[in-house]
Amino acid sequence: MTRIIQADSQGIAAAAALVKKGGLVVFPTETVYGLGANALDGRAVARIFEAKDRPHFNPLIVHVADLEAAAALVGMDARARKLAAAFWPGALTMILPRRADCPVSDLCSAGLPTLAVRVPRHKIARQLLQAAGVPVAAPSANRSGLLSPTTPAHAMQSLQGRVDMVLAGGACDVGLESTVIDLSGRDPVLARPGSITPEMLADVLGMDIVTGQTLQDGEQPSSPGQLLRHYAPSVPVRLEAVDLLPGEALLAFGSIRFMGVRGGGAAKDLPEEMIRNLSPEGDLYEAAANLFAMLHDLDQPGHSAIAVMAIPGHGVGMAINDRLQRAAKR
Ligand code: TXA
Ligand code: MG
Repeated sequence: MTRIIQADSQGIAAAAALVKKGGLVVFPTETVYGLGANALDGRAVARIFEAKDRPHFNPLIVHVADLEAAAALVGMDARARKLAAAFWPGALTMILPRRADCPVSDLCSAGLPTLAVRVPRHKIARQLLQAAGVPVAAPSANRSGLLSPTTPAHAMQSLQGRVDMVLAGGACDVGLESTVIDLSGRDPVLARPGSITPEMLADVLGMDIVTGQTLQDGEQPSSPGQLLRHYAPSVPVRLEAVDLLPGEALLAFGSIRFMGVRGGGAAKDLPEEMIRNLSPEGDLYEAAANLFAMLHDLDQPGHSAIAVMAIPGHGVGMAINDRLQRAAKR
């Protein structure tokens, strides 16, 4: 059931409480409505992908109340601070290196060492972020492949029954998703155009912005103006494993009681560094939340491969399998 709530002080407090405890809340920003979840809670972030029917895990923008909250998550160099001073709060998202102690779920980063952060200007968004007191991951509040919503009615059409609450705060004034600039490399790169133009950014930085699509080695262009990068393990990934080869690490899902190692032995007796279980109880949200961290853990040169047990393809399982298939292809 989706509640639609007026964004008065009571409504905002209810939305903040819901976010804190892992719910999904649609809320207005000056660009478009966002589909928000507590970015510290991997299961809540996993629910975003399911609600959107997203067949894969794109990295998500994390929204925070102010510069200080952003600086607790990512490394903000001089360029980032200049842009923040000029455009925050506002329609600018910056991709920056995650801090070593960044507590945000790595599902928001799609396993990458970077995180996209934004301080929105919209009054309701800011009040919500302040009241929630946690960073909020929020893609646009539409189902995958549909237009970004700029009114509560748009969001309801797309997500009714899939989110817990829509915080209604009128139409968005920008109506176009934020400009995304990638500051994680040597040169600033425009990752998505928006209302803040490359000229405006270049003016503040006193340097040129790279605007052409710069793809990483072997990468396919995604949609125009988007950089889609994902974490790729360096050891081979073997899918649908029903047993283990000697030397393989195990990424399990559900019970491993009956899984064996070829040539003798049981998977459950492997040393701790060779085994992770995405969800012993077979919970797909838990599995999604653990996916990138556990792939990282098992991505050790000493392992001949990462053998992954079969994951059901329904709900958020589709995105998990998409990610695993990409990881297995390299
Ligand atoms: O205006 C907006 O930005 C809205 C409101 C709700 O804030 N949000 C939004 O989110 O448009 P979304 O998920 O629809 O778009 C996020 C964009 C995608 O193009 C994604 O690939 C990119 O940002 N992105 C996010 N994190 C990234 C990262 N770590 N590296 C590269 N690209 C990233
Ligand atoms: Mg979108």
